[in-house]
Amino acid sequence: MIALGVVLLLSYLVGSIPSSIWVGKIVKGVDIRDHGSGNAGATNTFRLLGWQPGVAVLTIDFFKGFASSLWISQLAYFIGSGPVSLFEFWSLVPFLSITCGIAAVVGHMFPLYANFEGGKGMATAAGMLCGIEPVSVGIAAAVFLVVLLTSRFVSLASLVAAFVYPLVLVALRYGYGWDIDGSILIFAGFIGLAIIIKHKGNIKRLLNGTENKISSFKPAVG
Ligand code: G3P
Repeated sequence: MIALGVVLLLSYLVGSIPSSIWVGKIVKGVDIRDHGSGNAGATNTFRLLGWQPGVAVLTIDFFKGFASSLWISQLAYFIGSGPVSLFEFWSLVPFLSITCGIAAVVGHMFPLYANFEGGKGMATAAGMLCGIEPVSVGIAAAVFLVVLLTSRFVSLASLVAAFVYPLVLVALRYGYGWDIDGSILIFAGFIGLAIIIKHKGNIKRLLNGTENKISSFKPAVG
């Protein structure tokens, strides 16, 4: 149990790295949460600071999730010589990857180093899920791109992808017989729901016609 606690804490701390806030401060000396949509994420970084800082934040946020589910979770094997045996840990593989990935997404949404005011979790969730089941993430990413290119709303594309992702897993498992752990299905549903809830401001803006389109993305700060 100590090993589990350690890897969960590590994942949360990695997820807490507020890349967009730090990049905004380093590149332009601004707090990204005071501008644009106010969201501490890659989209707002693209919007405010341009594509290079945007790509940097997107990459960091993605790898916070990927590293947590794929690598940090595995550290438990090296620590876990206590009450939980290595054999028991092996049977916990999906559980470890999922819980560490979720700890990273929670860290991104509620970062310790930034007064718990974080982003909406899309890139970190994509990274964590990629570390567990990359094909379904690829399908959801394709859906994201289609919605983005046709609507030009990042938020709408995120919402549709977050909704579709668990359905893709269900289709792969029950329609095509893929060996996808049931716990991944359940937690993917929770993550999708958390991302949708985090987008409530975007949903209001989409409904009243004031949401930003990507065509209007120009470096707005500096
Ligand atoms: O993943 C976040 C994106 O869907 C919306 O970002 O800055 O437009 O609220 P933003």
